[in-house]
Amino acid sequence: MNNTPFIQRRQRVLQQIGSEGVAVLFAAPEQRRSNDTEFPFRQDSYFHYLTGFDEPQAVLLLDGATQKSILFCREKDALSEIWNGFRYGPEAALEVFGFDEAYANIEWPAKLTQALVNKKSLYALWGLYPEHDKEVMAKWHSVQQSAGRRIQTNTYVPENLADLAALLDGMRLIKDDHEIALLKKAGEISALAHIRAMQKTRPGMNELQIEAEILHEFMRHGARFPSYNSIVAGGKNACCLHYVDNKDMLQDGDLLLIDAGAEYNFYAGDITRTFPVNGKFTAAQKDIYEIVLAANEAAIAAVKPNADWGEVHLIALKILVQGLIDQKLLRGTVDGNIESQAYQRFYMHGLGHWVGLDVHDVGKRWHNGKPLLLQPGMCSTIEPGLYIATADDIPEVFHNTGIRIEDNVLVTENGCENYTALAPKSVADIEEVMRG
Ligand code: GLY
Ligand code: MN
Ligand code: MN
Repeated sequence: MNNTPFIQRRQRVLQQIGSEGVAVLFAAPEQRRSNDTEFPFRQDSYFHYLTGFDEPQAVLLLDGATQKSILFCREKDALSEIWNGFRYGPEAALEVFGFDEAYANIEWPAKLTQALVNKKSLYALWGLYPEHDKEVMAKWHSVQQSAGRRIQTNTYVPENLADLAALLDGMRLIKDDHEIALLKKAGEISALAHIRAMQKTRPGMNELQIEAEILHEFMRHGARFPSYNSIVAGGKNACCLHYVDNKDMLQDGDLLLIDAGAEYNFYAGDITRTFPVNGKFTAAQKDIYEIVLAANEAAIAAVKPNADWGEVHLIALKILVQGLIDQKLLRGTVDGNIESQAYQRFYMHGLGHWVGLDVHDVGKRWHNGKPLLLQPGMCSTIEPGLYIATADDIPEVFHNTGIRIEDNVLVTENGCENYTALAPKSVADIEEVMRG
């Protein structure tokens, strides 16, 4: 366990909240799946970001006055560990994860109460876990009442309920070296899974069988879970943006859109590739595919420090709209169609989102009504698409053509790095991989 990145992040938070601040955050709740079985536990992303400690029922307290990080966690329990597995306990957790103090989790309310005295700001992830909000507010009120009764002279308590999410989101927006290495690995594993899917796909197979191939490749490379439910959408299913039923048979002549990414060591990959079920694009499929590919490539080429995300979005949009006009799927001018938003019939989502600990990662895209300027260390998806459903006014060759091409890019000092480029996306490369 390399605890250095986590210690450094806690130190950065402690510096920012200052000597008159205190911050508290909680592990994710365990989720019941059915009767007495649970979903696999997945630590809360903020909690992982600051601790690397991935057990449930844990609390982190950051005390600005002492600049100490204090963990509260489950105690060692021989019987429970026989049934449910290893737990660190406070003593080992302190050592392994580099906390300044560690206690049994039942002690957090009392320690928080003490830490609140003579602080000005109480930072928490308000709204994330309402049950914990209530517990924290109860402690805050109790300290306020004590101070009101002047039990201690010159005692004051936080007047400020401060937003820890705003602080952490700003940090999480710019990935550090530890995160970049993990994101690249997640991207690489995700790309390998898309290659495997291209190699295995044949007409007559079921979407679910292809999902199995993808998960197999993720796990083979140490990524136990996907970072979101995999979309394996043949033919018309690709026109449903969040299709996750993955239950239909793949038909000769159809396209297959796969949007799937591995979560590696908590970091998300998020790749979409679209390819023909039988390994060969029809002329009409190729025409639409090339439009989306050109938009994907032009947008990636425009990603660099100080690029305006709104501009990058517009570069891709103009290519998509021009392509739709060329194919006579839209009439009029590019600007006219953008103005009227007529293109939204075929392109109804944004160009991308941040990617990190969460597949749709935290951090603003806009600031004071203006798009954010890209900076080194930001990681974004670039995912233009066109979705042409069946309709009377659309030539039949285009019916049920859903195409998205999605990569993950890291903004670097000089431009960007497409770290999911390993997944083939030119028509020639895809057809070659599928020929085997
Ligand atoms: N897989 C979800 C997305 O592409 O945003
Ligand atoms: Mn995405
Ligand atoms: Mn995706």
